[in-house]
Order: sequence, then C-alpha cells, then structure tokens
Amino acid sequence: MTEEEPEESAAKKKYAFLEDLPGIGPATAQKLEELGFHTVESLAMATAKELEPAGISEKKAFAVIDAARSSISVSFVRADELLKMRQSVLRLTTGSKALDRILDGGLETQTITEFYGEYGSGKSQICHELCVNVQLPPEKGGLGGAALYVDTENTFRTERIVQMSKHLCLDPEQVAKNIIYAEAYTSDHQMFLLDNADEVIKENNVKLIIIDSLTAHFRSEYIGREMLASRQQRLNKHMHRIIRLARAFNAVAVVTNQVMAKPDVFFGDAVHPIGGHIVGHTSHTRVYLRRASHGPVRIGRLVSSPYLPEGEEIFKITENGIEDVSEEEKTKSRGR
Ligand SMILES: Nc1ncnc2c1ncn2[C@@H]1O[C@H](COP(=O)(O)OP(=O)(O)OP(=O)(O)O)[C@@H](O)[C@H]1O
Ligand SMILES: [Mg+2]
Repeated sequence: MTEEEPEESAAKKKYAFLEDLPGIGPATAQKLEELGFHTVESLAMATAKELEPAGISEKKAFAVIDAARSSISVSFVRADELLKMRQSVLRLTTGSKALDRILDGGLETQTITEFYGEYGSGKSQICHELCVNVQLPPEKGGLGGAALYVDTENTFRTERIVQMSKHLCLDPEQVAKNIIYAEAYTSDHQMFLLDNADEVIKENNVKLIIIDSLTAHFRSEYIGREMLASRQQRLNKHMHRIIRLARAFNAVAVVTNQVMAKPDVFFGDAVHPIGGHIVGHTSHTRVYLRRASHGPVRIGRLVSSPYLPEGEEIFKITENGIEDVSEEEKTKSRGR
C-alpha cells in the first residue's frame, strides 16, 4: 500500500461527530464545543485562528478543518458546479405572491435577507409568517423544516402563530412545536445564542433563522462615535456567523433592522437603515418596508440584491397574516 492511499480514503470519509475527526479526542472536542463548534459543519466553516483557544496548533487546525470540509464537500468549485450549488438554493414564500415576485419566488436559502423599516412597518409580522410558512411542504412554498427565532425586543406572540397557522389549515400546536424561540437580553447574549446554535439547527431540521431585531441591542449599547468601530466589528462577526449557519444547513436567514432619519436629505427617502456599510454589505438581499397610508397595506421595496432588479410591490397585514391585496381593493384605494 502506498503512503497516499489511506489519506485519499480519509478525504472522502464522512464524519458525523467532532470526535470522529482525525486528531480530535474527547478533551479537544469539549473545548471546541465550549468555543461554539458543536458540529462538523461548523468546523468546516471555521478559520485556523478560531481553533487556537482550544489548544489546537495551526498545523493541526488546518488538517482538522480540511477533514471537516471534505466531509461536507466544501472546496474550490468550477462555475458549472457553482451553478449546481445555486440550484440547491431553496425558496420560502412570504405569504404574498406580489412580494415573492420581486424576490424571484421568495426568500432564498444560504444568504441573509434583511427587512428594514420604521416601527409598525411589518418586520416582525413577516417574521411570524415565515415561521409558519417554513413548515409547509415545498409545493406550497415552504421548506418542510423548523424555525429558530431570536427575539431581542420581546415582540414574538404565539397568538399570531395560532392565527396564521389556522389560516393555512395547519395544526397550531404542531406549528408551535417547530418554532425554537430564544429571547436575547443583550448584544453579547444575542451573539452567544447564534454561536451555539448549530447543534439545535441540526437536531431540529431548522430551515429558517430569524434575528428580530439584528441591530436594536447594538444600537442601544454602543453609544457615541468612539464605540462605533467596536460595534461594527462585533456586528460584522455576528452577521458572518449567521451566513455560515445559513450556508452549512441550506437555511433561510432573516434579520430585521430599524431606520434612522437622515437630516440632510431633501430628495428621495429621508431614512436609512442602521448598521452602515457592514450590515448593508453582508445582507445579500435588502427589503425596505413602509406603510402605504392608514390601514393594513404595506409597501415592500427590493432595495438591493446581487442579481435581481429593484422592484416594489404592495401587500397587507391582516389577522390571517401576510396576504396579497386583491385587485378590487387596489381599485378602491386608487379611487380614494
Ligand atoms: N392581529 C393583527 N391583525 C391585523 N394587523 C395586525 C395584527 N397584529 C399586528 N398587526 C399589524 O402589524 C403592525 C405591527 O407590525 P410589526 O410588529 O411587524 O412592526 P415592526 O416593523 O416589527 O415594528 P418595530 O420596529 O416596532 O419592531 C401593527 O401596527 C398592525 O398594523
Ligand atoms: Mg418588530
């Protein structure tokens, strides 16, 4: 037998648990878990430096990460393979066909979609609806999976889940069972929850990760110019963690964000989302929500996407959840 052969077969091996990886014993596995690496998938997305605190040398870290990567097959790919990866992107319906249309069929897995807008614009309502919709089978616009809901403002309401489930003829109790909820009390707690979410995601077949709101804690804790750089750095790290989870588990990631008034704008929109360039560049798809006038109608505007044109559509928030505005209602409102 030549030297290469065992390595060759090791490269193709599938590792189910951390301890199955070559060179990882129970003590190192435990240290890795303490650092937030609970699964082979999360190790595959790690950097060698991140494993240092577990007492893993750089050389060993590269070997471990390589083995984890080969196990879940992440490596350089040709563009035709990339095309195949894109084909594995799944779509989740918002509940409104009009809103889905500007998003090319719904929210995509593997990337972050950000909803931003003023209070009452419908960000949290959309999050609730998505938690229910994700449980639908693919032919009905769902992903047949569970939802993970990180709530920073204590606005998650099971009553709404019950109403939305009933409207879709789903058993509310069953739906509620598939929503894993955590309230984040501070930005550190929020980061901690996500840093330790991989196991929960895997065990529960989570296909939707929600952070409502992404920026509220960061905004209230990091005040003043001198804290801006560290806030942005932490936000950046947090968002990259979310992206890694979305990619590793082929899940939809949704974050919500408030807006700030721009004092110096005379033309166009006088508001902009919190979080500056970091949040803007890390959210692949950004949707701006605003009220149409009084009443249930809202306007959703696709502001940025890596491949879709800008677009705007209306939808409404009712007791049933997120719904389309009927042609009749549109005509009525035009006549007003
Ligand atoms: N049961 C319901 N039936 C109809 N409309 C509802 C119902 N519950 C909430 N809404 C609508 O949703 C709005 C609240 O929207 P939502 O909580 O999503 O706002 P938000 O964008 O998350 O705001 P914030 O920035 O304060 O978090 C209410 O003002 C109301 O118009
Ligand atoms: Mg909200």
